[in-house]
Amino acid sequence: MYYPEELVEEIRTKNDIVGVIGSYVSLKKRGSNHWGCCPFHNEKTPSFAVSENKQMYHCFGCGVSGNVYTFLMQYENYTFPEAVKALAERAGVNLPEVEYSEEEKRRANRRARLLEVNKEAAKFFYYQLRSPHGEKGMQYLQKRELTPETIHKFGLGYAGMNGTTLVEYLRSKGFEDALIRDAGLATYSERRGLSSQFWNRVMYPIQDINHRVIGFGGRVMGDGEPKYLNSPETDIFDKRRNLYGLNFARTARSGNLILCEGYMDVIAMHQAGFTQAVASLGTAFTSEQAVLLRRYTDNVLLAYDSDGAGVKAALRGIGILREAGLSGKVINMKPYKDPDEFIKNLGKEAFQERIDQAENSFFFEIRILAEQYQMQDPEQKTHFHREIAKKLCGFSEEVERENYLQAIAEKYLISVDNLRKLVKSYAATAGEVQPIERPRSGIVSKQSPEENVKRAQRLLITWLVDEPGLYHKIKKYISPEDFTDELYAKAADKLFAGLDQPGFQPASIISMFEDPEEQKQVGELFQTTLPEMDSKQEREQAFHDILMAVKRNSYEYYNEKAGADITALQKVVAGKKDLENLAKTHISLD
Ligand code: GTP
Ligand code: MN
Repeated sequence: MYYPEELVEEIRTKNDIVGVIGSYVSLKKRGSNHWGCCPFHNEKTPSFAVSENKQMYHCFGCGVSGNVYTFLMQYENYTFPEAVKALAERAGVNLPEVEYSEEEKRRANRRARLLEVNKEAAKFFYYQLRSPHGEKGMQYLQKRELTPETIHKFGLGYAGMNGTTLVEYLRSKGFEDALIRDAGLATYSERRGLSSQFWNRVMYPIQDINHRVIGFGGRVMGDGEPKYLNSPETDIFDKRRNLYGLNFARTARSGNLILCEGYMDVIAMHQAGFTQAVASLGTAFTSEQAVLLRRYTDNVLLAYDSDGAGVKAALRGIGILREAGLSGKVINMKPYKDPDEFIKNLGKEAFQERIDQAENSFFFEIRILAEQYQMQDPEQKTHFHREIAKKLCGFSEEVERENYLQAIAEKYLISVDNLRKLVKSYAATAGEVQPIERPRSGIVSKQSPEENVKRAQRLLITWLVDEPGLYHKIKKYISPEDFTDELYAKAADKLFAGLDQPGFQPASIISMFEDPEEQKQVGELFQTTLPEMDSKQEREQAFHDILMAVKRNSYEYYNEKAGADITALQKVVAGKKDLENLAKTHISLD
């Protein structure tokens, strides 16, 4: 960042968030918040809250949150400096001249440089495609029935006949070799020097949700190996945390998102008007991507290939979606291989029908399972029924389990009573997990252990943001190091430092992070939904549980890491003492 923090903060405090957001979204005051329809997802009843006190916004529907800067960055697609400029202007604050520091800024900001070199490479490919050298690439894309608008929208390009023209071009734009290499755009060899692995391929820039190019996929034209060559992971290209097409899909407002396997599928779908399509980045779908999707929808449709590998990937995807709390459905692509081919052959209306008929993911799983058994054989049939029972045990909510049980029983002609008995006996023998000691308030008990820990850390931070006065009561027990998630630790560090100052506003912390994705996560960190609690006693119990959970995890974490390291060991011993003290301490919320 090259504006001083004090200045950024001054500009922020001079731009009341209600006024700024109110000029984009119609807001109505209700209680302590101003409410409106969320501009970042499609909704008819307002769940987007702007808090004058906190100077933050939060959508209870899609989960976005942040301060006045992140709002402009998300709404206007501004970079951070652009948002600072716009708000400085709005408030009549003069910004220092920054022209001379352009070079300095570049050196200081490696990520920004990586983004720049990728952007420049994307431009190069884009113009190559449109030059006489790119004729072959253009013909290929036309053969795949992409319109000029689509080619433009996705910024498609062409990498020339050898790997050195790109490198020469980037050098001429002032990018040093090390950066070109670190961006994954070229590799060095004795024989060729610095040379790009991308040549004679059509190029698909991969963009993050803010439309910034973070990597590339390059497709061979016709048959050849490898079919796709993707950028390696770099400081800005994390394949687990990004999705192809999400920069457009996030504003599709279609009530669902469609997850495909390939880049081409996404492009073909968008061209046909299904702008809610996304794909993972040449690697399997991850839980991080599921969490990313959850920001925009709770309804994900899988449009995977109809072949064996596609079915397998879909089954895996369903599990990941379910773990993230998303309900998945599966679109049937048959008799075609993938969405691209389907749409080419049967058109968009037919595809819309397939969307409408998408199969509930549990039914899909059972249907695939059924294919593995020969139902004429009583023994195999029994196995099949047992497998169903086992899967039904996965529903922890009784009503849901019973509903599925009845539906499946009807579908596969099984007696409801028998299936129910089977489920019960299965749950009794194998299903039950061994009981563990649960915190009494039940506040820290969702999902996987890691997710629980992170959730406790989030809850604690949100609680302190909501009630800053509590900080002084707990600061002797807790330090930023207790937050074992790296980003949370950074945020806690800034938060705790701020809470020691008079007149501090947590909203300021968000703009201390440079990366928009981090800003977003920090914004969310301040807005974790605290469960409804009526009595003071309940609230105190919950607060204590959260504190204990954070502290216990920190103790376990450092204990595991310590080994023979003496200073770490001392920390562990101190942590154990804190933990014991804390367990005995009553912290009043008055
Ligand atoms: P088209 O054949 O152009 O229609 O490709 P597609 O988009 O339908 O891709 P496909 O279903 O063959 O593969 C799905 C995705 O897997 C692609 O979009 C790539 O991200 C990835 N992929 C496919 N082939 C390769 C490969 O050879 N190497 C790598 N790293 N990734 C690949
Ligand atoms: Mn394809």
